[in-house]
Amino acid sequence: MITQLVKIEGTENDALIINEAAEILRRGGLVAFPTETVYGLGADGTRDDAAMAIYSAKGRPADNPLILHIAKAADAELYAYTSPLYYELSKRFMPGPLTIVLPAKETVPKEVRASLPTVAVRCPAHPVAHALIKKAGVAIAAPSANLSGSPSPTCAKHVYDDMNGRIDMIIDGGECEIGVESTIVKLLGDDSMQLLRPGKITKEQLEDVGRVVVAEAVTGELKPGQVVESPGMKYKHYAPKSQLILLKGNNKSRQNYILSQNKPCAVMCYTEELELFRETLGDNFVFDLGPEHDTLTHCRHLFKLLRLADLSGVEVIYAPLPIKEGIGLALYNRMIRA
Ligand code: TXA
Ligand code: MG
Repeated sequence: MITQLVKIEGTENDALIINEAAEILRRGGLVAFPTETVYGLGADGTRDDAAMAIYSAKGRPADNPLILHIAKAADAELYAYTSPLYYELSKRFMPGPLTIVLPAKETVPKEVRASLPTVAVRCPAHPVAHALIKKAGVAIAAPSANLSGSPSPTCAKHVYDDMNGRIDMIIDGGECEIGVESTIVKLLGDDSMQLLRPGKITKEQLEDVGRVVVAEAVTGELKPGQVVESPGMKYKHYAPKSQLILLKGNNKSRQNYILSQNKPCAVMCYTEELELFRETLGDNFVFDLGPEHDTLTHCRHLFKLLRLADLSGVEVIYAPLPIKEGIGLALYNRMIRA
């Protein structure tokens, strides 16, 4: 298959690109598109054959369901049983990086929800994603646009590296602003919800709307065979070929530990530490997470750095262990999974 790579440039041509992409989706084809979190790999969410094609293009296990992307919160009615809590959350956080798991209606092919009785819906804020969903006229089923097991793509080049020859089109809309996938909550009834995957919308923000129970798999090690609340949690995600070692402790002790190692290694470090590490390890083995207290930037850079670190060929990468508060919980979760 030939994969078309097209670029959104803020000109009249953009509308032609969206038209063509929507046409591909209606025919049952696959289109990768930018969202504010990571790139998605889209198919018509109402067609079982199109959803199946996503699994084979990604090499994704059949028991890991997809997210339905909708143009506005109320469109969830077509696919799921909503509730007052759904609308409370959507008033605050949609469009945006929040995915909500609801009881599914029969309209959702079982291939999209991996035979679960529930379905995940998300209304992305990215203008290209929004335009594409509207033009397609249906919900777009989309996981992240990476090969199963590699980091989620945060730019079109990552998508191309993983998906060239496997899908019909890649829409290049530049770098993703957030860089980690959406927060996922499952509504439990009344005013409570279970946090299945942390993201830019934090636990603390969700607590303004209702009671939040954090799923064990968010911060814990999974035991073999353990039943998880979200199928995606049981797979080793975003894993680089190198071993990623997360170091606790203050900056000084982490720096000393790394610099005293006698084997080749790479580091992910704060901008303030670049010079120190580059002197000893060399420019190619030092990766900038961003300024120390800017966790949002660390999130935006993480997946790109994991891909770069892989190319460096080292056995071990050291990084600081993130705190588990606010947006730090999203970073912590992705780093322990990696
Ligand atoms: O930011 C995002 O959410 C990106 C962009 C493209 O929207 N999408 C994304 O999709 O990260 P994916 O497939 O890589 O992750 C979706 C996660 C998986 O871990 C899956 O198990 C979970 O959502 N999920 C989907 N449907 C579910 C359901 N009915 N119940 C529980 N978990 C579900
Ligand atoms: Mg994914």
